[in-house]
Amino acid sequence: MNGSVTIFPTPGDLAMKFAEEIVTVISESARLHGSVSIALSGGSTPELLYSVIADRFSHSADWKTVRFFWGDERCVPPGDIESNYGMARRCLLDKIKIPGSNIHRIRGENDPLFEVIRYSGEVRTNTRSGDGFPVFDLVILGLGEDGHTASIFPSDISSLDSDNICEVAFHPVTMQKRITLTGRVINNADRITFLVTGKKKAGIIGKIINKRSSGQNIPAARIVPVHGVLKWLMDEEAAVFLRR
Ligand code: 6PG
Repeated sequence: MNGSVTIFPTPGDLAMKFAEEIVTVISESARLHGSVSIALSGGSTPELLYSVIADRFSHSADWKTVRFFWGDERCVPPGDIESNYGMARRCLLDKIKIPGSNIHRIRGENDPLFEVIRYSGEVRTNTRSGDGFPVFDLVILGLGEDGHTASIFPSDISSLDSDNICEVAFHPVTMQKRITLTGRVINNADRITFLVTGKKKAGIIGKIINKRSSGQNIPAARIVPVHGVLKWLMDEEAAVFLRR
């Protein structure tokens, strides 16, 4: 397993601590680079984090320096309940003073093959570059019970090693189309942080962290930073099988 593991008593404790860290990352990266590029995760886990940032830290960062992107998006309109952008807008974006031009959403309503090209261009134009790939200051990731992250699923791990910035993916059960950043872009970030809470994730976390499997077919286990820092933040429920 790569990276550091930090276990918090509750999801609230995790969200509070990580929100503080994000504010620090924004300040440091803005000072170093003039702006900060953060790729947000979808799913339900980060809702609490986004709400804590909005409720407790909305005045703690210069949001004009922050550019938000998404690690993946469902191919649905922004107003759809499934939209990762829609969730972030409800929980965070509507509650902070961030210029609309700093929000780089994946347009789930577009034809996926067109959107892959369009979003790739938007990422490349609005982020730093290193080793031929975009460099995000921070990529926030969730973890599926099957070991997927972003929308890189075990059923199609080609997106891990693709030379593209993003790819079209399909949810293995619902076949819902997704747009996902590729593993090479995620691994090129300065900071990669997994947020994992709840007992449903204990099994997959045990496999990844205790290295009880080769990890070859567990996309999240193949997230290995090229030059940056990888952190696993989890609560006690998700960490119950970890060897301490
Ligand atoms: C998505 C996410 C996905 C998510 C995991 C965990 O679009 O759904 O990017 O990778 O982070 O499936 O989802 P939960 O947080 O809902 O458990």
